[in-house]
Amino acid sequence: MPFVAPGDPSIVASQLADAFATTYAGAPAVVARAPGRVNLIGEHTDYNRGLVLPVALPHATFAAASPRSDGLVRVRSAEHDEPWSGSLEDAADAPGWAAYAAGVLWALREAGVPLSGADVLVHGTVPLGAGLSSSAALECSVAVAACAAVGVDLDRSLVVDACIRAETEVAGAPTGGMDQTVSMLAEAGAALLIDFDAGTTAPVPLPLGPAGLALVVTDTRVSHALVDGGYGERRADCEAAAALLGVPSLRQATLAAVEEIPDQRVRRRARHVVTEVERVRAVVAALGAQDWAAVGARFAESHVSMRDDFEISCPELDLAVDTAVEAGAVGARMTGGGFGGSSIALVPTPRVDAVVRAVDAAFAAAGFAPPQHLLADPGPAAAVL
Ligand code: GLA
Repeated sequence: MPFVAPGDPSIVASQLADAFATTYAGAPAVVARAPGRVNLIGEHTDYNRGLVLPVALPHATFAAASPRSDGLVRVRSAEHDEPWSGSLEDAADAPGWAAYAAGVLWALREAGVPLSGADVLVHGTVPLGAGLSSSAALECSVAVAACAAVGVDLDRSLVVDACIRAETEVAGAPTGGMDQTVSMLAEAGAALLIDFDAGTTAPVPLPLGPAGLALVVTDTRVSHALVDGGYGERRADCEAAAALLGVPSLRQATLAAVEEIPDQRVRRRARHVVTEVERVRAVVAALGAQDWAAVGARFAESHVSMRDDFEISCPELDLAVDTAVEAGAVGARMTGGGFGGSSIALVPTPRVDAVVRAVDAAFAAAGFAPPQHLLADPGPAAAVL
């Protein structure tokens, strides 16, 4: 079965350490691993102080780092051609992919981590631009490696905040914090319920194997960039709705109040958020009861809400979702920021092959580029290897 492989962490780590020694001919590096994520449900709710339920992927970014004492930062990536070097201060303006890697070193220093430069080499197995948080995996892997390289105890919430600063302030992507939080706080075998109003997290067991199910991720290969306008426009509509209703965020809004919003576009955006938060609650309850059919039903409602009210789906995502369900998935939905990226399908293990083949065939028949697929076994949070 042609699934994108996550790679064996210890093999990837030792190859990266060797490559680091060749690249920098410097001090031995610390290697850390940070996972990408796929969101089970709760889309565009994080920046509305809502609930989300992501899972850490077995696919991850690996970062090797060694400290420097001269204030210089050098970052290189196996996946990106452009190495970047500059001072820690300049790292606040690093361009392109380096904004995430060097930007997080700047943010850590701002947060009081005693960094005075670093050499960094990264390599990842999270597909890029697929809506699977390759950027959060990059930020978190560099942050964890850098903290270990300078010998400070890992403060996971400090790292989450520094990674969010790198993403929003240095890279300029106005995202909501789900991706960095799950990469740092996930537990293997579980999804992570994050409450962005209460500021709490809790693992929610996801016993896919015992239930005879697999979580299949389909990367549509349609480009997805969160620094483009669509994500920010949705966020602005949500903030406008909250202001109109006189509440601090849509988390405090009721559906009845939302239905009175005069502007139909703003009303539909807010309706998605308010109903999506309820669907997260419903999925957590259904998982507790092992009621997979109910989980699938909420996935279907979530997809329709994102397609019709929030308007962040696209023909490729709709086709992947509809085809997976026709071919035997218990439920499917687009996942992540939208405008391309990936869908997820909860599939009985004996149907996985049929679902993947059906989606591939449907894409070929529609004239779409071939998608790629991953298996999302819920993995652990970021750590030094
Ligand atoms: C992206 C952002 C997240 C979140 C999702 C949508 O992944 O990085 O903060 O808003 O989109 O749920």
